[in-house]
Amino acid sequence: VAHNIDPKRVPAAGGGTKNSDWWPNALRLNILRQHQANSDPFKADFDYAAAFQSIDYDALKKDLTALMTDSQDFWPADFGHYGGFFIRLAWHAAGTYRVQDGRGGGGEGQQRFAPLNSWPDNGNLDKGRRLLWPIKQKYGNKISWADLFLLSGNVALESMGFKTFGFAGGRPDTWEADESTYWGGETTWLGNDVRYEEGNKGGNPKDLKNRNLEGQLAASHMGLIYVNPEGPNGEPDPVAAANDIRTTFGRMAMNDEETVALIAGGHTFGKTHGAGNPDLVGPEPNGADIENQGLGWISKHGSGKAGDAITSGLEVIWTSKPTQWSNLYLEYLYKFEWELEKSPAGANQWVAKNSDAIIPDPFDPSKKRRPTMLTTDLSLRYDPAYDKISRRFLENPDQFADAFARAWFKLLHRDMGPRARWLGPEVPKETLIWEDPVPPVNHPLVDDRDLSGLKQAILGTGVDPSKFLLTAWSSASSYRDSDKRGGANGARIRLAPMKDWKVNNPAVLNEVLRALEGVQQQFNSANQGGKQISIADLIVLAGNAALEKASGLPVPFTPGRTDASQEETEEDTFKWLEPTADGFRNYGGSTERVRSEQYLVDRANLLTLSPPELTVLIGGLRVLGLNYDGSSHGVFTHRRGQLTNDFFVNLLDMSTEWKAADGGKGEVFDGLDRKSGQKKWSATRADLIFGSQAELRALAENYAQADNADKFSKDFVQAWNKVMNLDRYDVKKSNIAR
Ligand code: HEM
Repeated sequence: VAHNIDPKRVPAAGGGTKNSDWWPNALRLNILRQHQANSDPFKADFDYAAAFQSIDYDALKKDLTALMTDSQDFWPADFGHYGGFFIRLAWHAAGTYRVQDGRGGGGEGQQRFAPLNSWPDNGNLDKGRRLLWPIKQKYGNKISWADLFLLSGNVALESMGFKTFGFAGGRPDTWEADESTYWGGETTWLGNDVRYEEGNKGGNPKDLKNRNLEGQLAASHMGLIYVNPEGPNGEPDPVAAANDIRTTFGRMAMNDEETVALIAGGHTFGKTHGAGNPDLVGPEPNGADIENQGLGWISKHGSGKAGDAITSGLEVIWTSKPTQWSNLYLEYLYKFEWELEKSPAGANQWVAKNSDAIIPDPFDPSKKRRPTMLTTDLSLRYDPAYDKISRRFLENPDQFADAFARAWFKLLHRDMGPRARWLGPEVPKETLIWEDPVPPVNHPLVDDRDLSGLKQAILGTGVDPSKFLLTAWSSASSYRDSDKRGGANGARIRLAPMKDWKVNNPAVLNEVLRALEGVQQQFNSANQGGKQISIADLIVLAGNAALEKASGLPVPFTPGRTDASQEETEEDTFKWLEPTADGFRNYGGSTERVRSEQYLVDRANLLTLSPPELTVLIGGLRVLGLNYDGSSHGVFTHRRGQLTNDFFVNLLDMSTEWKAADGGKGEVFDGLDRKSGQKKWSATRADLIFGSQAELRALAENYAQADNADKFSKDFVQAWNKVMNLDRYDVKKSNIAR
């Protein structure tokens, strides 16, 4: 059978034992080469925003509404309505988001690709995507899969009588599986031995109420979106389950109220599927046979679908009206006492004690069942904090509906970034704190003459230009493409919590900000035709002015950033943007599980840098002297402050040999003259990796070549300009000065 072939023994199509097999610990750059023109049928030259804006949105929503009740034989609709199914599809597309690194989420249509298309928790959602295909085919380029998955959930809610908070399109698809997201280190589906490993920041993995979930993760098991529905590690304990829910939903940036609203709101609809023996379910899509055409979980239990469907293995129907918005979920949760039972598939679930059979069967109108709940549903009643909220919602259906509408909207849009990316007729007017709002530009912008005057004024302040460079870099490089947060716009570097981050060198930052405020005051009070300049713009402009001085090259600038206020800044979630280690500024070092150079590549990925861009930036930042603490690690030049390729020339100079300088920790190194033994340089791992990792070394050689000194400077300025403008969703890409 095809899928039993050992890939390491396939003498074709990229098979065979690979570098990552031989040297699993070596630094890999693969995540810096993703989503390139090569894998994109549009060659990356396609304006999805423009295409989306030309769609007949009403017709699309009408078609989606009709789809909900147009049951198809290949996967019949429970209760004649796919509503619950599409809510789950949208929820699982979006629910992988985690606030720590901003990765996951529904913003890229990754549910089409492995591993997500085959995660156990995404069971049978392959059928949901096939149900959507005729609509995708019809509307084509005007609606991405990413938008369609989420919109289908929204329309599902509306078609069952729920008033949503709105919807924004604007998520362009990716065309290949994303490799940048750490989903955990386990090698078995539903395993969780690594994420709760003992010594992983303390906590006892066996103590289900006091265990610590590993760093970036937001799910309690490999292959789940969030938590085990049967309870922690399958233990049917609703109170312990609440802890896992709080952790995982917290990492989706949801508080207790949002969490209760989401779970209660979602489970007002649809049902779970566990009609029989789960061993009869075939392999997931990525492991299935070719004739299944991308479908998986083909089941031999009865007909394998409809009343015989097995997805989670749980067989629960929460309310008597599973295709209508109601308050019944909360009513039943409190009205009944719950008794543990086994689903037909053998999973732990709860049935209402002494209840009549009031729940309809999804396919047989002559049958009725008793109400049932998941262990994690009971958490909403038996966890004291959730209980308070659930009771309030029970008594105040309006509050429940409003909280669910808002939390659902946030769930679907959290990773879209600024409102400038939100498209379509249903974008809500109300500004939400989690969009990281910035005020609109309400004045004429500066022109080239103003800019040269401002640059002169900046350089005339007497502040060391390297400090302007450091501040501009610190501001702009806080961007992360995963959820489009951070960046220079808004100048949040002058607000809590960013202003106090050690990596931003608060002393230097303050000096720079005071100087720039002076420049701003002078310019703005001169009131030249109403023109104004923001601190956000000045921070970047100051960096550019310093770079022009250091390089002798013109550095492009695109004005129009504005300054956010503290009230417009969600401190709680901004704290996650603080890097543990940042090799660009030689900040921090390796941790138990991640080496500095891996942090560096991870940040480069979040900054959308290619390997050459990463390389040229490090070479330039070092000779410009941009270490966060002013240290001389990696400053391989005697002309600090001038943009030269000295970093590469000296790194590759064979008269230097490198020795660990920190007693074997392997974080700091001395560069010694091979003959005299005299110390010439010092370096961190984030420096030496450019001479050690073969692909980075090849790029370092390229920039150290005698004929590439100019190319180095030009490439640096280009990469710098790219980083300065990564968050400029307020400007059309083609209008960014290059
Ligand atoms: C179905 C678990 C939160 C919406 C399911 C299923 C499970 C589950 C096991 C059954 C899948 C199947 O067998 O077909 C959980 C757990 C949650 C959670 C453990 C959190 C603690 C949510 C949230 C939403 C949601 C936040 C949406 C806002 C739904 C819907 C269904 C469903 C609509 C029914 C799907 C259908 O009718 O086919 N959930 N869920 N769930 N879930 Fe959740």
